[in-house]
Amino acid sequence: MNTLGQDAKNHATAVGLNVDRITINGGKPLVGRIELKGAKNLVTKAMVAAILGDTPSVLKDVPNISDVRIVRGLLEVHGVTVTDGPVEGELILDPSAVETAHMADIDAHAGSSRIPILFCGPLLHRLGEAFIPDLGGCRIGDRPIDYHLEVLRNFGAIVEKLPSGIRMSAPDGLHGAKVALPYPSVGATEQVLLTAVLADGITELSGAAIEPEIMDLINILQKMGAIITVDTDRVIRIEGVDKLDGYTHRALFDRNEAASWAAAALATEGDIFVGGARQAEMLTFLNVFRKVGGDFDIAEDGIRFFHPGGDLKPVIIETDVHPGFMTDWQQPLVVALSKAKGVSIVHETVYEQRFGFVDALVEMGASIEVHKECLGSAACRFGQRNFKHSAVISGPSRLTGADIEVPDLRGGFSHLIAALTADGRSTVSNVGIIARGYENFITKLELLGADFELDA
Ligand code: EPU
Repeated sequence: MNTLGQDAKNHATAVGLNVDRITINGGKPLVGRIELKGAKNLVTKAMVAAILGDTPSVLKDVPNISDVRIVRGLLEVHGVTVTDGPVEGELILDPSAVETAHMADIDAHAGSSRIPILFCGPLLHRLGEAFIPDLGGCRIGDRPIDYHLEVLRNFGAIVEKLPSGIRMSAPDGLHGAKVALPYPSVGATEQVLLTAVLADGITELSGAAIEPEIMDLINILQKMGAIITVDTDRVIRIEGVDKLDGYTHRALFDRNEAASWAAAALATEGDIFVGGARQAEMLTFLNVFRKVGGDFDIAEDGIRFFHPGGDLKPVIIETDVHPGFMTDWQQPLVVALSKAKGVSIVHETVYEQRFGFVDALVEMGASIEVHKECLGSAACRFGQRNFKHSAVISGPSRLTGADIEVPDLRGGFSHLIAALTADGRSTVSNVGIIARGYENFITKLELLGADFELDA
């Protein structure tokens, strides 16, 4: 089994799934209702934030996805007691016995996750040292951690690169700093927040990411006792405090999952009510969904996404940091764009290599060309650097079933959608990767009437 295959198996096993491949008979619209839980990209960070509290924290709406399992394991090897609350999806995190973990244990639990880098600030505060192994995550570009290391150095951490990973220490404690990010990185902004709240003095972060998941992390930190001001123009100011308490918080819904099911409704000519989705955090997605020819109804308890009939229309999109069109939304939508009548362009400006998934769509009959040029109104960081980061999608195309392999989380979900829309049978392997970020996706497919069989 190759590394990706092993990785897929590990993710599936972590959530109790014994599945490697799904064989899908395409052509059936997805119709029905599903429920969302908290956002993967908030919940995992909220779990890390619990280390900062002097008392236990309670997090609600935690999805059963393997990234959550990984963070739970990492917290446990650091002495945090994590228990399931009385209500499904509730976690109680008690950090009172936080301790240094063995490097081998951290390595074994981190798997391919990039979350360990966010443990550094909280562990430096609690223990004076932190270790991180080599980091993974989805294969969607280089995904360096240079901003994170620079941020931690700004706070006074000593960073040593060892053959097995990176060791950090803060013999003189951490102190507030003026930090300017070269790009509004989500992870580096979270790094600053999780470190600055207990640092001595004031921190001023400019060039911050302001995604809704970051705002919800700020809500959590404020509940814990932190003082954080979000100013205009991506400036966040944090006044360090001496101590923080635990929090009780219901996590923000997963808008990436919502967008994925919305795209699935559109591509399969279906009708899906996504319970828990909210308009405010999805404004940009909803505009594009409407422009492509999709329709939606906003209800108090969710959003209904549907194909109203007629031709889908091509669009020009550039992915961007919030409030732009999220990079995690483009992959599922590209499948729907392959069905639109005309030429669509997607300029990916957040990650340099996020079009690997289109090879399988082309094999299935989509007409998609990926270019190195910036095909958008703004030149991005990847222009003139040989990264194929602009996709031209010509439609409408009929897709036919094929044997395809999930390359990464969002690309994997787009492969599922492609197979659901295709004529005939498709076999999608390495589906375990999808369990990293989509809770109960197999049960949800069943609920929505998909025609498929599982293969262990
Ligand atoms: N970057 C650097 N150096 C750094 C950090 C980032 O050059 O030290 C670059 C990245 O290579 C990338 C850009 O900055 O080109 C943006 O990366 P960012 O730090 O914002 O991403 P992240 O924090 O690693 C989170 C999500 C991603 C999501 C991005 C953008 C989590 C666990 N991951 O990643 O989610 O795409 O923000 O919104 O929160 C996913 O859910 O499938 C996923 C990949």
